[in-house]
Amino acid sequence: MNIDPETLSPLERYNLMIACIIPRPIAWISTISPEGVTNLAPFSFFTGITANPMSVCFAPVNSREGVPKDTLINVKATKQFVVNMANEDNAEAMNQTSAMYPYGVSEFEKVGLTPLPSVKVRPPRVKESPVQMECELLELVTLSEGSLGGNLVIGRVVMFHAHDGVWNGGKMRHQDLKAIGRMEGAWYARTSDAFEMARPGLDKRTPPETK
Ligand SMILES: Cc1cc2nc3c(=O)[nH]c(=O)nc-3n(C[C@H](O)[C@H](O)[C@H](O)COP(=O)(O)O)c2cc1C
Repeated sequence: MNIDPETLSPLERYNLMIACIIPRPIAWISTISPEGVTNLAPFSFFTGITANPMSVCFAPVNSREGVPKDTLINVKATKQFVVNMANEDNAEAMNQTSAMYPYGVSEFEKVGLTPLPSVKVRPPRVKESPVQMECELLELVTLSEGSLGGNLVIGRVVMFHAHDGVWNGGKMRHQDLKAIGRMEGAWYARTSDAFEMARPGLDKRTPPETK
């Protein structure tokens, strides 16, 4: 079966993408408005980019009516955000924060989550999240405007936080993080069914010190 995206509506393309790009990690993004009202929403079109500089990106898409997400409005205005990782323990609360509250209403208050002051940026962190990354905006790419318009927010991680229980002796284990992934529709995946596979030929790799 060949599927030419041009023969599909934007909604059909979206449904196709979310059905096969799975599981997607979930960035629970906290921002703050210029007036000081906090905002919190999940985004699964999210990934890390590189460690040099330590950077991440996520994609807030405009609504069908072409309205930008509150998160995007705040990032544009303040150039800062925090990525809080969603996991099994905060999944229910994370989902609640995806409700469409009007701009100026804080999901922290509505859902009963605990804002923790950040060290280097103004948006607070989510205490209930085991890993939090304070970010400064590096670049905002607008792919399209209007209905379902796409935006890519690229941020530099300027401070990293991890609960003691998941940062054990300088190591993070997925068994402790208990991250979840977004699938299609209302489906989610746990990461408890992981398997290990060593990469081939690792012994032939150039030692880091001679690169
Ligand atoms: C698990 C999950 C992942 C989501 N991922 C995205 C995403 O990648 N991009 C997006 O635009 N909306 C995504 N949404 C929807 C937003 O969270 C939702 O539109 C939210 O109301 C936006 O909040 P805001 O207007 O306060 O920024 C997701 C929702 C859920 C529950």
